[in-house]
Amino acid sequence: MTDAPVRHNAAVTNRSLLSGSAYKSGQDLSARQSLYKWQSPRYDLPGLVTEQLREIRGTVVDVGCGNGKFINRLRQDRPDLRLLGLDISAGILGEVPGPVAVADAARLPLRDAGTNAVLALHMLYHVEDIPAAVAELGRVLAEGGTVVASTNSDHDKSELDDLWQRASGDVLGRLGRDRGPSRISLSARFSLEKAPSVLGAAFSAVRVVELPGTIAVTDPAPVVAHMASYRAWADQYEVPFDETIQRAERIVSQQIEEQGRFEITCLGGLLICRR
Ligand SMILES: C[S@@+](CC[C@H](N)C(=O)[O-])C[C@H]1O[C@@H](n2cnc3c(N)ncnc32)[C@H](O)[C@@H]1O
Repeated sequence: MTDAPVRHNAAVTNRSLLSGSAYKSGQDLSARQSLYKWQSPRYDLPGLVTEQLREIRGTVVDVGCGNGKFINRLRQDRPDLRLLGLDISAGILGEVPGPVAVADAARLPLRDAGTNAVLALHMLYHVEDIPAAVAELGRVLAEGGTVVASTNSDHDKSELDDLWQRASGDVLGRLGRDRGPSRISLSARFSLEKAPSVLGAAFSAVRVVELPGTIAVTDPAPVVAHMASYRAWADQYEVPFDETIQRAERIVSQQIEEQGRFEITCLGGLLICRR
């Protein structure tokens, strides 16, 4: 496992970039989610979240619900629950069966203590004031309720960080510049290592369920699609984005030719919070 440097960039929390580009539709999010098809062990993430809500009755709100992956599973497996999807992107909500509403995690349009479970899955790192959003999750949560958050480790997919640096370095080298800059990390502000103490400010019990795995591909396409899904942040890099992706594809192809596969080490996790 390599310790790739983590770069924070204000564009990770830029609301107009998030709603107008990165999550205007579910297309790039789906490309990132698809890479996990090649992970082993394979986790049924919507199933694991549904399992955490087995004791919950009443209302479940999915904050930053994205393309509705979790709402869809809950609708199928738990028809007894009242579900609501919230997101800052009106565009992506068009792909989610209702009821849904445009809303910001930092100002939830929900009454105090009226929601039996709240999901905040792979989204708190996009919020500017994370402690304020966590306090909001606590404010709306009913007595005896559960919050399920999720994020990735600081070390998650470090091979992709190395790949980006090698590829961007090669591109910059051709332009007469030094080694390439590191890739933007979306989850660094609320990584699996940082999340327990941030959530601990609002919840007395925070349990971490780690989900380690290894992705192995024998075709560069899913890796390239994953890297290209960061297109919304392309102008945050000091390197030509498309050229860097093309160079990365050649590096991955070469490794597959030589070693038969390209491997990526993953570590994500769920955080189960109760008051
Ligand atoms: C990485 S996606 C995760 C989507 C979904 N929860 C999942 O795990 O598949 C992050 C989502 O959070 C939304 N989001 C970002 N900042 C938000 C905020 N301040 N309030 C509500 N939603 C936000 C984005 O629009 C996007 O749909």
